[in-house]
Amino acid sequence: MDSVVLGIESSCDDTAAAVVVAGRVRSSIVSSQRIHADFGGVVPELASRAHQRLIVPVVDSALVEAGVTREDITAVGVTYGPGLAGSLLVGLSFAKAYALGLGVPLIGVNHLEGHIYSVFIEDESPAFPYLCLIVSGGHTQLVIVEENFEHSVLGSTLDDAAGEAFDKVAKLLDLGYPGGPVIDRLAAAGDPSFHTFPRSRPGGYDFSFSGLKTSVLYYLNGFDDKTRTMLLEEHLNDICASFQQAVVDVLVDALDRAIDETGIRDIAIVGGVSANTALRRDARKMADAAGARLFIPPLEYSVDNGAMIAMAAYFKLRAGITSPWTLTAHPDLALDRQTSQIA
Ligand code: KG4
Ligand code: ZN
Repeated sequence: MDSVVLGIESSCDDTAAAVVVAGRVRSSIVSSQRIHADFGGVVPELASRAHQRLIVPVVDSALVEAGVTREDITAVGVTYGPGLAGSLLVGLSFAKAYALGLGVPLIGVNHLEGHIYSVFIEDESPAFPYLCLIVSGGHTQLVIVEENFEHSVLGSTLDDAAGEAFDKVAKLLDLGYPGGPVIDRLAAAGDPSFHTFPRSRPGGYDFSFSGLKTSVLYYLNGFDDKTRTMLLEEHLNDICASFQQAVVDVLVDALDRAIDETGIRDIAIVGGVSANTALRRDARKMADAAGARLFIPPLEYSVDNGAMIAMAAYFKLRAGITSPWTLTAHPDLALDRQTSQIA
């Protein structure tokens, strides 16, 4: 019988559920919480309350859209970290009750594993081992992904995540939250060589973006009020493009070096920032030059979604990995600890 995996994601401000039948995504429902935009960032307490309100209708819609009933489900996958404690708890408690009630296995999924397995949603997918650059609002890591959930982390950000840098710079420029999509759109009409912001390479494959954010702040503060207003009126696109190029350059450079040093030629870019137009364009160019195959999930699966959690859970189910009922939320869960056994 085909496996029917329900995947649930509630680690931040998206309440999401999806159904994967025999390894194919049949439905994916995401309810993004709009309330946070008014606050310029995610408000944890509001997020958990919204998850509580949304989780039942979102899961119900995922089942209806997939054309399956509750009784068809053979396993429930759920994000149990990293993320906001209260938000994680809503999804995890719901998933435990649901799986227990149905008498099917519970499969805890690390949110980052979800992003890593998002490249298996499309027909064309990488072969193991592949290099995976995870670039989201909370994480920036370069990882070698082996079969059966073995990961070697080559490098991580030492401070801000790439998406966080986009969000913070957008805030400095008064562009609203989340900042990535707005900066991407404005940068499309800008000149990336207008101003050279620093490309930070702290060593190995590690990243650092907080200095870049500060350098944008110092750059803007270097003008008096009147000049700054004029500059932003005339050159907002150019400033966005220059900042964006600094982020893209260090990300693409790290991937390029990793291809060279590991000899691995299947590469993936996942997480919200992989939606970025300049990153997609420059990474494609680099991959072509390096003779590598590049995989980037379609936009709806780059940002947080339930399909990637259901897909990772499907792979775990196939590998015989399930979680105990004592599984708890791990807000600081990291990729380089063996996560499936954590209770
Ligand atoms: O993966 P994701 O949806 O959530 C996390 O797990 O963090 O990523 C959200 C992040 C936000 O920081 C957002 O600004 C960024 O992804 N983002 C982008 C773009 N679309 C979303 N950053 C740059 N360019 C984009 N087009
Ligand atoms: Zn994410």
